[in-house]
Amino acid sequence: MLDIHTHILPNMDDGSKSVKQSKAMLLRESKQGVDLVVLTPHFYAHRDSPARFLKRRKQAVAELKQHITGRSKIPTVITGAEVAYFRGMSRVEDIERLRIRNTDAMLVEMPFCRWDRNMIDDLFFLKESRGVRPILAHIERYIYYQPLGTVRMLCEAGIWIQASASFFTSWKTAWLAMRMLKKRKIHFIGSDCHNTTDRPPNMGEAISRIEKRLGEDAVRYLKCMERRLLGGGVR
Ligand SMILES: [Fe+2]
Repeated sequence: MLDIHTHILPNMDDGSKSVKQSKAMLLRESKQGVDLVVLTPHFYAHRDSPARFLKRRKQAVAELKQHITGRSKIPTVITGAEVAYFRGMSRVEDIERLRIRNTDAMLVEMPFCRWDRNMIDDLFFLKESRGVRPILAHIERYIYYQPLGTVRMLCEAGIWIQASASFFTSWKTAWLAMRMLKKRKIHFIGSDCHNTTDRPPNMGEAISRIEKRLGEDAVRYLKCMERRLLGGGVR
């Protein structure tokens, strides 16, 4: 199982604060059946350039790998970023360097408001002209701002949607999460974990609820999306 959205990389953002915490988070992932984790620290264009961010990320990965290499029960980790949307992002140099490693996809955090035409056009331009397929992070946090039909329109344009595991485990929202997954308006689930306390890895519970409610087909579909993302290139 894949966890596509995590803040496990130490000392990069508001996620893990130490290698020890990162290791504890990875162990929890493993216990829940996650065998591949995408490390997606926040990227904010007003604070970092892609080059500076990648340098910081490289150092953090080296530090983490030093402590996990060769250990069993630790999932494979690959690098990515949670790129906060900024106007004109589809035109900037080096944006493709923030894609998930060995894939054409990039996790994008959209603004928490009703998206305007320029924002949607940026997503389309990324996909059509830059070879970067946006995966919209934690869709449940902004669907309520969008006109009906927005998610369908994005899906039809080949943009992928990620939802949080908690969208499926909360009694208030599970019905909507299940409905969206059933209609294939969610392509990936991620924990968006930040620590081991109030925002811990929680993929296991989400997947078992999905299996119970929607059956094996839904889990197979998520695995199929995982293979599509990786295209056989990573493992
Ligand atoms: Fe996140």
